[in-house]
Amino acid sequence: MKLIRVLKSRAVQVGLVSVLAVMSGSLSADTSKPVVMQLAQLSENFDVERAYMQSCWACHNSGAAGAPKVGDAAAWGPRAEKGIDGLLANAINGLNAMPAKGMCFTCTNDDLKALVQYMVDNSK
Ligand code: HEC
Repeated sequence: MKLIRVLKSRAVQVGLVSVLAVMSGSLSADTSKPVVMQLAQLSENFDVERAYMQSCWACHNSGAAGAPKVGDAAAWGPRAEKGIDGLLANAINGLNAMPAKGMCFTCTNDDLKALVQYMVDNSK
């Protein structure tokens, strides 16, 4: 009896894992919905500088399309007053010419938060 119960719960667990895998696969293709797997933490091996160079640098180094340049305290000062969460919300959702998620579609919200913090810290 006990063994059967264990087997049953195992089957349930395996079932759950595969449902989650399918969900994350289909959701990640649809960028308009928050991805379930993104709720909590930094991506494994997330490297904030590398991600910045890959996704944000092109605009935020040159000031393309009116992007506030990283290192430009005057450009960031008034923005930083929104607080990290206000900035993060705009980074996630996009703001005018700033594309949603800064075009880093593999970034979790926490990855983006680390990127925004990195940009603010380097613009004082
Ligand atoms: C295609 C160009 C482009 C890319 C790529 C880009 N940004 Fe931006 N970003 C902008 C522009 C333009 C603005 C200014 C938007 C405005 O205030 O009208 C901006 C503004 C911001 C702001 C300030 C938002 C606020 O509330 O004032 C943050 C934070 C930000 N970007 C983060 C990022 C991060 C993080 C990345 C990389 C993951 C990134 N951006 C990539 C163009 C870009």
